[in-house]
Amino acid sequence: MLNDKKVLFSGMQATGNLTLGNYLGALKNWITLSDEYECFYSVVDMHSITVRQDPATLRKRARALLTLYIAAGLDPKKNCIYYQSHVSGHAELAWILNCFTYMGELSRMTQFKDKSAKHADNINAGLFTYPVLMAADILLYQADVVPVGVDQMQHLELTRDIAMRFNNIYGDVFTIPEPYIGKIGAKIMSLQEPTKKMSKSDENPNASIYLMDSPDVILKKCKRAVTDSIGEIKYNEDQPGVKNLIDIYSSCTGKSVKEIEKEFENEGYGVFKEAVGEAVVSVLEPLQKEAARLEKDKAYLDGIIKENAEKATYFSNKTLRKVKRKIGYPDMIR
Ligand code: TYM
Repeated sequence: MLNDKKVLFSGMQATGNLTLGNYLGALKNWITLSDEYECFYSVVDMHSITVRQDPATLRKRARALLTLYIAAGLDPKKNCIYYQSHVSGHAELAWILNCFTYMGELSRMTQFKDKSAKHADNINAGLFTYPVLMAADILLYQADVVPVGVDQMQHLELTRDIAMRFNNIYGDVFTIPEPYIGKIGAKIMSLQEPTKKMSKSDENPNASIYLMDSPDVILKKCKRAVTDSIGEIKYNEDQPGVKNLIDIYSSCTGKSVKEIEKEFENEGYGVFKEAVGEAVVSVLEPLQKEAARLEKDKAYLDGIIKENAEKATYFSNKTLRKVKRKIGYPDMIR
């Protein structure tokens, strides 16, 4: 690849309102890793249509997400920030990989089981083969590393299995990607049910902090976060609510768990929750302001979108040409 740097691929769905979990579990690590790797960060709008979407809303959310990537600190001149749907190679490779993936493997995916229970009236084939499109995303760019939250690990393992299966038949076509899971923040939990993942589709608005929540709302949600009756700020499995708040505070401030336990040794939950709320605001407020500023610069964003779609297409075509030859598609006559 360019500059002999290793390649990084990751993406987020433009569905629902992004949560603090998306930021701390993924986006924050993307920024840390972006200098070290040649990075592709996709707005995975093709994945989004596995659940019914209002077209105008999807288009708006996709643009807002792309803007957010940049607002969060990813330089779009150095990182390829683009819409998945602008690069036809994703769909082409997904079809091919579908033919190398077993029904049994896809049936075991917990996200499929969860989503098909939630959308029982629309269990479409796309929802089932969703992880194959994800494998195509990653393998198309020969990614070495894929930073994700813990909930995507199963999909990543499947991606590796598909890649190894393909390589066993056709030789070394795909790089086998490694997951990158951050040390803290890899699984941010619901503020209301701290044994459950914080999710953008949670029906209880107090369960999730959304990236676009105002400071007031963030402080209120933190204040209402479910804890326990133990009354100690200690990081352990018996206090999942407190543990989650420590994770959030640690991730937002860079302080270690030990430092945090010490800082709040003689404090009650009220003081701690306020500090957590303020730490979250100090991370999200600048992000929101920058996103609002960028949004207004239509020409700049349009330029980035065009340029990066071309760059992604160029690199994806390299892999795709190789794959097509290997599997025996006839050569194009030019
Ligand atoms: P998505 O859009 O659900 O989530 C985007 C990223 O946010 C992480 N995440 C979390 N991390 C910590 N705590 C949480 N509560 C939390 N909730 C979400 C996710 O792990 C993810 O990293 N299928 C993917 C998108 C995708 C993708 C890919 C990712 C499509 N193709 C290729 C990596 C590589 C998804 O739906 O993520």
